[in-house]
Amino acid sequence: MLAFDERPPLAVRSGRGMELMLEDGREVLDAGSLSANLLGHCHPALVEAVMSAARTVYVNDATGYAPRARAAEDFLAIAFSEEPWAAAVVFTLSSSEAADLALTLAQMLTGRRPLVGRELGYHGATGLGREVSSHPLWSHGLLADTDVTLPPSSSMIRQLPVPRCGLADLDPSHDCMATCLQGATETLRGAAAVIIDNGQAGVITSAAYQDALASAAADAGALWIADETVSGLGRIGRMFAFQRGRSRPDMVTLGKGLTGSAAPGGALVLSAGVVEAIGGRKWMTTSTFRGHPVTVAAISAAMKTIEGDRLIDAAAAHGARLRERLAVVAARHSIVRRLKGDGIMWFMELTASPEHQEEIWRGGGEALPITALVQARALARGVLIGVYSGTLIWLIPPLIATAGQLDEVVDALDGALGEVSAGLGSSPGSGS
Ligand SMILES: Cc1ncc(COP(=O)(O)O)c(C=O)c1O
Repeated sequence: MLAFDERPPLAVRSGRGMELMLEDGREVLDAGSLSANLLGHCHPALVEAVMSAARTVYVNDATGYAPRARAAEDFLAIAFSEEPWAAAVVFTLSSSEAADLALTLAQMLTGRRPLVGRELGYHGATGLGREVSSHPLWSHGLLADTDVTLPPSSSMIRQLPVPRCGLADLDPSHDCMATCLQGATETLRGAAAVIIDNGQAGVITSAAYQDALASAAADAGALWIADETVSGLGRIGRMFAFQRGRSRPDMVTLGKGLTGSAAPGGALVLSAGVVEAIGGRKWMTTSTFRGHPVTVAAISAAMKTIEGDRLIDAAAAHGARLRERLAVVAARHSIVRRLKGDGIMWFMELTASPEHQEEIWRGGGEALPITALVQARALARGVLIGVYSGTLIWLIPPLIATAGQLDEVVDALDGALGEVSAGLGSSPGSGS
């Protein structure tokens, strides 16, 4: 995420729970060091599990290993306890790899090539997950200084528009197919799959959107892949974002908090229908470190911690309080254009200068985006808040946060927004 001559805004020495110890001696609350940090830093149960696995053995996923099988069982029994249609899981190295596998599998099962994502979506840095990603910040990279406006992508990729009900809370009875999913029937025709996440670009789709899209995909014979990399495992106050709707996906991709970030790892979950479609055939696919002992130990420990400490309930309770408090903060500062979130994942869109707009900014440039200014002011107040882009602040504290810690985060953000607003004077959009 950096240019060669840039230095990161902070250097971390260690972390415990929600706290980060910085190289310069400061201790700050972590509400923004990437969304994988679901269970806080160095959770004792995860550290213990990972250390014990590291002392045991290395085997790859073509070799039988009981803790891997147990991790799959723990994962399906806990995360998918209310979802009996989820029949199988493949552990991967990352969510990018899970997306690539899911999209490849969809192409093979349907015999079709076209893949559908949504504008400003992101599903991974490699393979088909990268192909179907369109957010300029994460996908267009070094094209910033050229006349080329699209990532190197193939003609089989199609995009749905950014859904209006994903940006703001619309009346739940709105006609989603006509407003947010305009043209979807045509876009999905002949496609192998559609992959949709919740979170990228501050878009959190409504239950109505999900159900309308799922039904349109089924009508078109396209598989629906729910990318729950960020939204899954409690972050939005329930186990998965798709549980807000009635429909259920054909596949789910996961990563980030799956291992409590104690080890790298991702997962691809297959519905019973997909497992049945594969049938007795053998799908030869492997990768050296898939299902690594350290990763599967972390997955089992993370699942048991989420369940044992009732962290989904905690996230829902935190969500209710954050909704109230952040709405007050958003209303107080005119530079806040939009607030969207749930549970412990909140986005604040700020009035930013034209060069930093979501649809065009690819990182870099002369002026610091307004979001970086707010982040710096919050850091000075002892809180690391997340920056998603040039326009979006991203609060992603861990599930283990206390109400008091979250109050500190909101207070720091409030103060930082006030300082930046004052510094910008009457022209908040100038962004410098
Ligand atoms: C929604 C979403 N999908 C997929 C990915 C890719 O995950 P990974 O970095 O584990 O490859 C990310 C990563 O940021 C993500 O946010």
